[in-house]
Amino acid sequence: MNVSGKTRICGIIGNPIEHTLSPIMHNAAFKELDLDFIYVAFKVEKECLREAMEGIRALGIHGLNVTIPYKEKIIPFLDEISPEAKIIGSVNTILNQSNKLIGYNTDGIGAVKALEDNKVELIQKNVILLGAGGAAKSIAFHFSQKAKKIMILNRTLDRGKKLAESLRSRSNADVCWDQLSREAIRNHLKKADILINATSVGMNPESDVTLVDPNWLNPEIFIFDIVYGPVETKLIRDAKKIGAKTMDGIDMLVYQGAMAFTIWTGNAPPIKKMKETIVEKIKELRNK
Ligand code: ATR
Repeated sequence: MNVSGKTRICGIIGNPIEHTLSPIMHNAAFKELDLDFIYVAFKVEKECLREAMEGIRALGIHGLNVTIPYKEKIIPFLDEISPEAKIIGSVNTILNQSNKLIGYNTDGIGAVKALEDNKVELIQKNVILLGAGGAAKSIAFHFSQKAKKIMILNRTLDRGKKLAESLRSRSNADVCWDQLSREAIRNHLKKADILINATSVGMNPESDVTLVDPNWLNPEIFIFDIVYGPVETKLIRDAKKIGAKTMDGIDMLVYQGAMAFTIWTGNAPPIKKMKETIVEKIKELRNK
């Protein structure tokens, strides 16, 4: 990597940030396309968010990813936000365009792109979405532009209801909600084409936990789990065992990053390289 006086700086802000895989993924992508960009991680304490954002402007940092816990808190410090980020109420990508900070959310569109590249069509599909948190919101917004029906199942019913209601007037799909329970999943699975786990259930160290009883899965249902640590959650393992098609959280991680890469550089992202880099890094971490 040749860092020069002209190198453009991108990065990620959040807290904690030590375990982020974004720097390794984006630096590999910049190198692959021979772009004079570098990507670093910034750990920002919550009382310093304002100063951090002033610093972004003062130092001319070109682009940022935003992660937990700042995806919503960052919004007042931006000059503009894209229509989808406004509706979702969260920003995961910022472009510094001549000192104008523009916020985007690439999570949901990344998930749609990842599905399309996995040859999964959303048009006319019945989708079950488990969860109504930040990631689920973004997915629900984009999926509801294309799918026939989205059933949002959330542990906290009111959160699921709010999300469904906020999408109803803005989407082409029939957006419904129900209380998340084992029974509800069983019932709704009977009519589903795609099931997405957008909750944190199944994440390390609870990698043997799933919300979906394997007996209710069938090979016709496409299973997408946004959890990427472990790469193969129990839900994904169960689905593969019965021959169902699956997509893991790494695809979503890569595609949301890929969309950010294009926002910052204007280039088509080297998806294959980005994914290989992440998979290798995860393998390396697992063997440590
Ligand atoms: P993120 O931004 O990563 O989506 P989040 O906003 O905290 O994180 O959302 C986490 C999601 O996982 C929520 O839908 C949460 O349900 P609640 O709204 O009821 O909190 C869901 N979730 C977390 N732990 C869960 C569990 N043990 N069972 C069911 N759902 C769970």
